[in-house]
Amino acid sequence: MGSATIMIVEDNTTVARDIRECLEGLGYGVACVVASAEESVERAEKERPDAVLMDIRLRDEMDGIEAADQIHTRFGIPVVFLSAHRDHMLLERAKRVGSFGYLVKPFEEDELYATLEMALYKAKADVSMLAASRMEATATLAGGIAHDYNNLMSVVLGYAEHVRGELGKGHPNAGMLLEIEGAARKASDLAEGLLAFARGGAHKLGKMDLNQTVSEALRAAEKNLPRRIGITCDFAEDLWSIEADRSQLNLVLTGLLANAIEAIEGEGKIDITTRNVDVIDTVTDKGFVVKIGRYTVLNIKDTGCGMNEEILGKVFEPFFSTKFQGRGLGLASVYGIVKNHGGYIVMESKENEGASCTIYFPVLHVEADESVEPQGVKKAAGDETILVVDDEEILLKMTSVMLSRLGYKVLTANGGQTAQDLLRDHEGDVHLVLLDMNMGGMDGPTLYPHLKRERPEMKVLLFSGYEMDETVQRLLDTGANGFLKKPVSSKKLGAEIRRMLDA
Ligand SMILES: Nc1ncnc2c1ncn2[C@@H]1O[C@H](COP(=O)(O)OP(=O)(O)OP(=O)(O)O)[C@@H](O)[C@H]1O
Ligand SMILES: [Mg+2]
Repeated sequence: MGSATIMIVEDNTTVARDIRECLEGLGYGVACVVASAEESVERAEKERPDAVLMDIRLRDEMDGIEAADQIHTRFGIPVVFLSAHRDHMLLERAKRVGSFGYLVKPFEEDELYATLEMALYKAKADVSMLAASRMEATATLAGGIAHDYNNLMSVVLGYAEHVRGELGKGHPNAGMLLEIEGAARKASDLAEGLLAFARGGAHKLGKMDLNQTVSEALRAAEKNLPRRIGITCDFAEDLWSIEADRSQLNLVLTGLLANAIEAIEGEGKIDITTRNVDVIDTVTDKGFVVKIGRYTVLNIKDTGCGMNEEILGKVFEPFFSTKFQGRGLGLASVYGIVKNHGGYIVMESKENEGASCTIYFPVLHVEADESVEPQGVKKAAGDETILVVDDEEILLKMTSVMLSRLGYKVLTANGGQTAQDLLRDHEGDVHLVLLDMNMGGMDGPTLYPHLKRERPEMKVLLFSGYEMDETVQRLLDTGANGFLKKPVSSKKLGAEIRRMLDA
């Protein structure tokens, strides 16, 4: 049985009455019945029905097809046409305005039901797919910018740190260099947020109980929770485990909690719910397209200020914020993380009626090992030989300055082929290679097997402007010894290199 609300546009009162009775008999609500095309556009805007049944030939100047075009493009409402004829020209015009169905009068009740249900389904799926592809495009753009930006900041940070070290603590300009480093770090943080949006950065996947993670996040946030806000948790028993990155999941929870708290002025409530959900249809009741399967669902609902439709449509975009001090990266990061975990996220809200955010995490099928945290490190310096491979000359130079200062002998290659030639011709030992993952021409993952073949004993430290991803994980699984994300301080780089050489 249908449950949606339908608007009927029909100028023949007898036909209109029959259709209304038929719809009501099928369980649909009838938003209104109108007899003119122009009026139908106005009423669609006001009533916002779930679908429109539109007679094509009406008595006014505008016909049903023109009205449908406006109703669909302006308000996203699907329109099913009704026509007395199977007219080829009309059909062609109807197709061009993105019709969701075409019924020739008289039609059977079953036909009407099937056509309407198909139209409603397709409209929901279209909206969800469009939003997803828009976010996908933004993520690609954001990721690209953030990557280059991060590289440039590495250079600023690295040289500032280096020069400050050379000048010594008492130097009058050391303070200014500290300021430069501070600003570069802040800029890197921004890029970090963008990268989280673009890639999510799920890298240490482990089996996780969402109930436990939420409890821990709440305990950690307890100090910052204002008394005026009451929090209730409704956790499903026997909640299915998910495979997630603990720190990324914490970012999701803290980001959503922060937003909920910031949205509540005065007294209010935040409800956190977890549920096991078996998705058996590709469109969920929340109206977005998901893969059929099992999900662990988290919902965080607040009684805050809520959002109007315009804001709601932009919440996941990076740098969208309505707050004085907001950066607009909270939900963008949450979105990226959820996507990177193969999940889905939806925000629902109305102005002054609070907001509700629902996340679907796919359940864990294969038991995964918890990854081991890197161990603490000893002294950073050394005198071994290190090959740095990076196609960005400026970064290549800076890294080699950093390593030389720590006492290492440094060889550099600005690309995959140069690195191969150099290793073949170099007669002495090369103890470690610092390998950039994203190079033009031959990239890190392509070069890696050649390096291993040429010098199997050489340690490999992978280096990337992006978060750890599947490719990096694969290389680590097949023998690479470590991974560092740019930008990195000379202290951290030195420490990691020392740890690897001593291992
Ligand atoms: N629970 C909520 N209630 C009302 N509005 C919300 C809620 N969550 C998000 N928003 C709206 O979405 C916008 C974007 O949220 P997002 O978390 O991405 O950025 P921010 O909170 O403004 O800044 P940041 O998280 O970077 O400090 C917010 O500025 C706010 O307008
Ligand atoms: Mg926020």
